[in-house]
Amino acid sequence: MIKAAVLGYGTVGSGVVEVIEGNNAQISKKAGDELHVKYILDLRDFPGDPYEDRVIHEFDTILNDPEISVVCEVMGGVGAAYQFTKQCLEAGKSVCTSNKELVARHGAELLETARSNRCNYMFEASVGGGIPLIRPINSALTAEKILEVKGIVNGTTNYILTKMEKEGADYNEVLKKAQELGYAERNPEADVEGHDACRKIAILASLVTGKNVDSEKVFAEGITEISNDDFAFANEAGMTIKLLAICRLMEDDSVLAMVAPFMVPMDNPLATVNDVFNGVLITGNMLGDALFYGRGAGKLPTASAVVADVIDCARHQGKTVICMWEKEEARLADAAEIQRGFFVRAREAAKGDVEAAFPGGRLLDVPGHSGEFGYFTPVMREKDFLKKYQELGDKVLGKIRLL
Ligand code: HSE
Repeated sequence: MIKAAVLGYGTVGSGVVEVIEGNNAQISKKAGDELHVKYILDLRDFPGDPYEDRVIHEFDTILNDPEISVVCEVMGGVGAAYQFTKQCLEAGKSVCTSNKELVARHGAELLETARSNRCNYMFEASVGGGIPLIRPINSALTAEKILEVKGIVNGTTNYILTKMEKEGADYNEVLKKAQELGYAERNPEADVEGHDACRKIAILASLVTGKNVDSEKVFAEGITEISNDDFAFANEAGMTIKLLAICRLMEDDSVLAMVAPFMVPMDNPLATVNDVFNGVLITGNMLGDALFYGRGAGKLPTASAVVADVIDCARHQGKTVICMWEKEEARLADAAEIQRGFFVRAREAAKGDVEAAFPGGRLLDVPGHSGEFGYFTPVMREKDFLKKYQELGDKVLGKIRLL
């Protein structure tokens, strides 16, 4: 029998137990042995819960129990979660997690600890919720040089943007609903300011390059400046607005890693990724594009990915599955040097100034928006665009990068 412990009995933790119990027969078959959750660690008690008898409060009970071979760390944070993960790996117990903050910050080190102790640190659920992304990069796509990973990796912001676009919904009300549905981070600032997506793209970029991409150095811009007016202009131009996370290998072997809202043409597959769904395009030099799509947040989809990792750990007991992510820092490209087009929304009276600042662009008017106009700049370096945009001061009302 494979005996597991779950650290944290919150949304994902209770989902992990539910998945293991609900699909136990087939999970056990795939794992090669019966899988059983022996302990659930939490500070709280859960009277009336069907698994209340497994709830414990002392981590050492798990650490010192030789029967426990795999631990699901779904408590979140980088304090106790880091300590517990490290100690489990040092004791040769594999750890599976959805904790992207911890993976982004200490992934390289924890993978090394797992290697040294012939066990595994697995984190499929840390990016894209229930969508397989980590395992494809680590196994199915190993023949590829991955040139770019680009997509929607935050369900909360995608849910908010979709509701704003389709229903004209108020930003704060939709955010509250996303929190009620269990999509949002404990501090939703991490979602709306792009930090959660930054951690996820840093994890993917680290796996793609094999070097460590520091999430705190990833360029991040969130969705707080996006308005319903921006959607009116985007839709008029046959586009939508998505918070994209991008990792691209540059010609000089540096890596561009960034998160920002982009205007995306409606015929791009990412434009049709709506609500809490995530969608990620991986471009390989031989394969071309592969699209990964599914539920990027939520209890059971995330738990399903954690449990898939548990099964993988059970299949590889005493052996570490290869995962290329070393401690050496990757060289990051400067996002300000990238060339692209930009959308600018401005006051009607500033038409001449905007055209003069970005000559050769294209004007866009939207019926019903008589006080404002939109403008698509020619392709230009981000740094040059920002300088001119800032010089326009309060004549301009917003800007969005073009994909
Ligand atoms: N807050 C995250 C999101 C949860 O909305 O995508 C899943 O990582």
